[in-house]
Amino acid sequence: MLEGKKIAIGVTGGIACYKVVTLVSRLVQAGAEVRVVMSEAATKLVSPLLFKEISGAPVAYDMWRGNDEFNVEHVALGRWCDLMVVAPATANIIGKMAGGIADDLLSTTLMACDKPKIICPAMNTNMLNNPAVVRNLETLRRDGILIMPSGAGYLACGINGAGRLPEPEDIKAYLDDFFAKRDGDLRGRRILVTAGGTREAIDPVRFIGNRSSGKMGYAIAGALAARGADVTLVSGRTALPTPAGVQRTDVLSAAEMYDAATAAFDRADGAVMCAAVADYTPDTVSETKIKKCGGEMCITLRRTRDIAAELGARKGSRLLVGFALETHDEQANAEAKLAKKNFDFIVLNSLRDAGAGFRGDTNKVTFIDRSGREELPLMPKSEVAERIADKIESLLK
Ligand code: CTP
Repeated sequence: MLEGKKIAIGVTGGIACYKVVTLVSRLVQAGAEVRVVMSEAATKLVSPLLFKEISGAPVAYDMWRGNDEFNVEHVALGRWCDLMVVAPATANIIGKMAGGIADDLLSTTLMACDKPKIICPAMNTNMLNNPAVVRNLETLRRDGILIMPSGAGYLACGINGAGRLPEPEDIKAYLDDFFAKRDGDLRGRRILVTAGGTREAIDPVRFIGNRSSGKMGYAIAGALAARGADVTLVSGRTALPTPAGVQRTDVLSAAEMYDAATAAFDRADGAVMCAAVADYTPDTVSETKIKKCGGEMCITLRRTRDIAAELGARKGSRLLVGFALETHDEQANAEAKLAKKNFDFIVLNSLRDAGAGFRGDTNKVTFIDRSGREELPLMPKSEVAERIADKIESLLK
């Protein structure tokens, strides 16, 4: 998978940066084109000359060539590469990336690069467990950056623990897997994902909404895009960043979501209906703020259109995946929706299961199709998204 791939490697000043020399050598041997960018601290541990010889390309580490020439390498490298990797990633570069700081060639290159990024954190165990580092890694994860878990074992500080830079062969295998997914079977497939909750206006300042965070749908959109799919994400209002490689259309109401989703479905090979769409909307929207009065307040609601059911009715050979969030009679309700909306399979989650549902970063789901059910354990939403992507990939084959 690495043959012909253009990989920019950012090397920071962790003791383990000597291992990256071997990594670069392995990548070059596998046919990848590698360009190295170093932080100043890294240049104190390993000579840029060594990376230059191993990669066969100039090594960038200085914003200023000589005294007066501004080095625009940071923009060029980000444009050139297919993937940017930071190995080892110290607490410092992780903090800079999470905080949006660009104060040297490497951090500026990372900021100017809109390609997928993988970081390999490596540091002392206490540093890795420091709340600031944990928080920063979570921020990067939410920003769509892939984080290769560090290994456990003997560390340069003399203790055994977590924080070791994985061996060059393992990092190479991780990159191989990344490209396998990116160039995987979903390449060229167009998939619509709806996500987040809709908002139905009552007046200019109020709306009827729901508790959907959009996390599950965004994770699915990201997982499908990472396998090469051309993903259109039709999203209600969320606080989430757009996953790498995903085309996002923002909508507010169920009616807007209907318009955007039906238009995208016409061009799609399949759709994942993950949004929490309002089933009812105020019959009329007041143009001015409704003032309170003495007695009760009544709002007449009318039904919205069921987007999934309408897509199901005209789906033809396209794949349609639904969600069911239930609080009771889970199995029966999900099976009824599977049939009524003509889904190929439905992902059931129950609010009765701890760790499942809207808000958190985990979910516990059951896949149901016409041939049976598969119950998955509680896992991070990112992992649920991968399992859904696996199923979509096999059904679209
Ligand atoms: N859905 C949709 N458009 C709607 C309502 C739901 O596309 N107007 C989709 C959801 O995205 C989900 C599936 O239909 O994939 C089931 O949604 P859910 O809210 O669980 O079910 P409802 O059909 O709304 O039924 P109920 O509210 O009775 O549970």
